[in-house]
Amino acid sequence: MFPNAVSDAAPLVDPFGRTVTYVRVSVTDRCDFRCVYCMSEHMTFLPRRDLLSLEELERLCSAFVDVGVRKIRITGGEPLVRRGTMELFRSLARHLGNDRLDEVTLTTNGSQLAQFAAELADCGVKRVNVSVDTLDAAKFKTITRRGDLARVLAGIDAAQRAGLAVKINAVALKGVNDREIEDMVLWAHGRNIGITFIEVMPLGEIDASRFDQYLPLTQVRASLAQRFSIEDIAYRTGGPARYVRMKETGGVIGFITPLSHNFCESCNRVRVTCTGTLYMCLAQEDAHDLRGPLRTSESDAPLHEALRQAIARKPRGHDFIIDRTTRSPAVARHISATGG
Ligand SMILES: C[S@@+](CC[C@H](N)C(=O)[O-])C[C@H]1O[C@@H](n2cnc3c(N)ncnc32)[C@H](O)[C@@H]1O
Ligand code: SF4
Repeated sequence: MFPNAVSDAAPLVDPFGRTVTYVRVSVTDRCDFRCVYCMSEHMTFLPRRDLLSLEELERLCSAFVDVGVRKIRITGGEPLVRRGTMELFRSLARHLGNDRLDEVTLTTNGSQLAQFAAELADCGVKRVNVSVDTLDAAKFKTITRRGDLARVLAGIDAAQRAGLAVKINAVALKGVNDREIEDMVLWAHGRNIGITFIEVMPLGEIDASRFDQYLPLTQVRASLAQRFSIEDIAYRTGGPARYVRMKETGGVIGFITPLSHNFCESCNRVRVTCTGTLYMCLAQEDAHDLRGPLRTSESDAPLHEALRQAIARKPRGHDFIIDRTTRSPAVARHISATGG
């Protein structure tokens, strides 16, 4: 090797000294739900021919592993509605087996989880995040525009029976679930499940106003602190959440606060869409094409080089604004394209 050449297997370090060890891969932009904060009622999805094949997704994930990524989260859209997604989990399991990867995880709306939980566990998946914004079945249908809460809860049961650690993700929604926060925490902790609240982010056009939906988590935390003893803990999962422990239940509550507290300084992750576009930041438009290097060469060297070029452009961070005057989203693409 030339003295100044970067080794193919050297870790990915961005200009701010952050090593990228975590990739989120959206395997489809499609979903069987249309959550009001995520999508509009009438979404135009990508033509199926534009999607990377499962083999290509697997090769892409493996290229990330080659350059030091230790954690892969499969997300979407709804990853479990893409036919064959389990093949991807099956093939990634080999990296877990030979210690090149610490974790493969999944973020899901839970609608198909009852069917796939045991197989996921068999593929070496240890943890799944399931999104549940309310425990009221009618409200659940309204938020998701078509979801069946009972089916999601059955999926969570199946996941726990299969030995998967479950975490609940709940988007805090003003006037929708703000009075339910306490019940949701007690429900989750009663089942030995951690729960993480997320602030609404301005990604993609939806039919409603995100200003009307936005509930700052400072308020959620303050109202929990009035009734319960909560203390900050150092627990981290490699994601952007900050955690507290509730003394009364012993359970953990996470807060993801992209708006009220910017979490970029410790960002170690990037995101890839189902068409092979790499976004170095969830909240910025700059992207790098990986489909070209993936398809033009059988060697992975161009792919590794593309990853390095992209990470050299990873921005320091983002600033979301949600207020009465800022009507348009921060970026045009929906979170379902980039992967939440
Ligand atoms: C885009 S979804 C993809 C995975 C799967 N369909 C699910 O719902 O879990 C990932 C996470 O992003 C969250 N999410 C979607 N749109 C959001 C938005 N505009 N702001 C904040 N979180 C959002 C969802 O609630 C979910 O927890
Ligand atoms: S949040 Fe997840 S389940 Fe809801 S519409 Fe978006 S991708 Fe689908």
